Amino acid sequence: MITGVSGQDGAYLARLLLQKGYTVFGLRPRRGSDTLWRLRELGVLEAMELIDGDVTDLSSLLRAIERSQPDEIYNLAAQSFVGTSWDQPILTGGVTGMGAVNLLEAVRLAAPQARFYQASSSEMFGLIQASRQDERTPFYPRSPYGAAKLYAHWMTVNYRESHGLHASSGILFNHESPLRGIEFVTRKVTDAVARIRLGLQRELRLGNVDARRDWGYAGDYVEAMWLMLQQPVGGDFVVATGRNASVREMCEIAFRHAGLTLEDHLVIDPAFLRPAEVDVLLGDPARAAAVLGWRPVTSLETLIGMMVDRDLERLGPAR
Ligand code: GDD
Repeated sequence: MITGVSGQDGAYLARLLLQKGYTVFGLRPRRGSDTLWRLRELGVLEAMELIDGDVTDLSSLLRAIERSQPDEIYNLAAQSFVGTSWDQPILTGGVTGMGAVNLLEAVRLAAPQARFYQASSSEMFGLIQASRQDERTPFYPRSPYGAAKLYAHWMTVNYRESHGLHASSGILFNHESPLRGIEFVTRKVTDAVARIRLGLQRELRLGNVDARRDWGYAGDYVEAMWLMLQQPVGGDFVVATGRNASVREMCEIAFRHAGLTLEDHLVIDPAFLRPAEVDVLLGDPARAAAVLGWRPVTSLETLIGMMVDRDLERLGPAR
């Protein structure tokens, strides 16, 4: 059972589990507009079952567990846009923080044998306390989103230690794909590059282009989630590439891929600056490599190239 199944990671994870022969149930909150395009794009929508429910509603989680009788539960549901979390801190706390606790409580009550995955985030490191962040690095969240994720992370650890749940926390660094939402910087950039290339747009307006992120490919990262739940006991794992780049460098890769020059189009717009910034993230995935045998395979250049190509396809005349 996957919460947040209509998001980027939910779609890739659903596909991975279906390929492995799993029966997949996805929790579907009834908010907002059509959120199933990713499941359609990967061709998995027909192969899985959606259950109406929301991580903010414990009764719906108990009902979903009763319906799906899950062996594995992946909590990917969140208000996941860092920028929005300053405007909606209470909603973010409710969905991203308490939502995880509702699900842990539902698991404890109704499916204590099930294995549980919590989507933790490198945003929890925030104002970094070590130049490379691993499972032992102290946390210092810098956004309402990071603080909410940290609560959910510690509650996952706590349910493992207090109630003996097989509960794991994947501390994933930024991970992107052609299915990334347009509000995140990589997809905003690759969509803009495609529009500029096709003559549909002239400018790309960004905030802090000096921020550095350790960017990987979401398709690689869902493998790590699955591997965590195949271990004899639950644990915490950093999932990252071990290499970072600035937003500007990532933009240069995207523009170069389309035969364009960044300087001709970039406009710095203070409207996209955040009240507090996470300047640098750089993960150390050594534990995931040693224990899970997991390694990222997709480079930033390949990833960004793939995203630009897909956006050109989406927007191009042949569409
Ligand atoms: N979104 C956005 N839009 N970000 C911008 C822009 C812009 O116009 N201009 C500069 N940035 C900078 C942000 O300030 C940030 O430093 C960086 O680009 C990355 O921003 P996002 O892509 O929005 O991702 P994030 O790092 O804040 O958060 C993502 O990664 C986390 C893991 O570390 C999200 O996916 C989170 O949900 C995830 O937990």
